[in-house]
Amino acid sequence: MTQSLTALLAQKTFSTADIARLLSLTGPADVELLRSRAHELVLKHCGSHVFFRGLIEFSNICVSDCNYCGIRKSNEAVDRYMLSKDDILESARFCAEVGYGSAVLQSGERIDEAFVAFIEDIVRSIKKETVSSTLPGGLGITLCVGEQTEDVYRRFYNAGAHRYLLRIETTSPTLFAKIHPPQQSLANRMDCLDRLRRVGFQVGTGVMIGLPEQTIEDLANDIQFFKRTSIDMIGMGPYIVHHQTPMAHYDRDIAARKDAVFLLALKMIAVTRIVCKDVNIAATTALQAMQYDGREQGLCFGANIVMPQTTPVDVRNNYLLYEGKPCLDENASQCKSCLERRIRSVGREIGTNEWGDSQHFAARS
Ligand code: 5AD
Repeated sequence: MTQSLTALLAQKTFSTADIARLLSLTGPADVELLRSRAHELVLKHCGSHVFFRGLIEFSNICVSDCNYCGIRKSNEAVDRYMLSKDDILESARFCAEVGYGSAVLQSGERIDEAFVAFIEDIVRSIKKETVSSTLPGGLGITLCVGEQTEDVYRRFYNAGAHRYLLRIETTSPTLFAKIHPPQQSLANRMDCLDRLRRVGFQVGTGVMIGLPEQTIEDLANDIQFFKRTSIDMIGMGPYIVHHQTPMAHYDRDIAARKDAVFLLALKMIAVTRIVCKDVNIAATTALQAMQYDGREQGLCFGANIVMPQTTPVDVRNNYLLYEGKPCLDENASQCKSCLERRIRSVGREIGTNEWGDSQHFAARS
């Protein structure tokens, strides 16, 4: 006889087969049991607060050519931009003033010295300018600027950034190879996560859900990877086709699976919460690209972080990693009030003027 779902959900540790079973649930009553267990655990391990990280997409210039991504180097239809230091500082000041507590600086990948030095300078300046009585340590800064050397990661850390996001995208070597150009390797991504940890960052990673040919076992292995490598923060969302990429021809397949992929993304959040417990998990914008209340649903399935847009509206249209990205025309203040309303609508509180660090990081360090 198979074990009851309630007993399975109450386990402390999970085999890959257990995780695959949880990800495979489809009956509404079973999915609700999964959701409510994840909700119970996020409240227990992280509290009821949802933390904001203001998202500043400061450049879409990219030297990488990932097959899924709309801003890949080979997409010549994209207008490339790089925000000025002043523009970035203005967005950062906005984050601090409205109580976000943290910002994420995200861009396409570059490894040249000018880029690295620019980021170091920006991080130092943001730190200096955003110190206040309500935010004595200045804005918490998360970087999301790709694969770099350990020395570069250390420079970023010493400048004042303390969290770093680098998605592994998938831990399946065959799938990773299929969606990336030959110059990119899963081994290097994994090495980068190790480097980040050695340098002292709170380390975030994540995967895309619903990639062509991705199996439930692949996703179960991804969650085991988060657990095994003691990841502090997770951001993951559904794969969404961008038509100016080599994966455009998957559009019909993805459209046919849209509802299933959305549900799978919610289940990934819930199961990650149940397995990893005290990590920060973001309800990502890609969820909202699929359903108007996708992020709120993510929060109800165990997420505790949202990343409101604070990128200046005039360049936002040029940072389309996937199609159907929401909030393209709302300014940062509109995004803020809309999100606050949405978070309260699902009975959660908003953590203001706090970094909202990963409890997992606090426990492991
Ligand atoms: N669909 C969904 N997510 C995407 N990303 C890039 N392209 C897509 C897409 N087409 C995600 C990747 C990357 C993050 C910044 O955005 O996971 O790491």
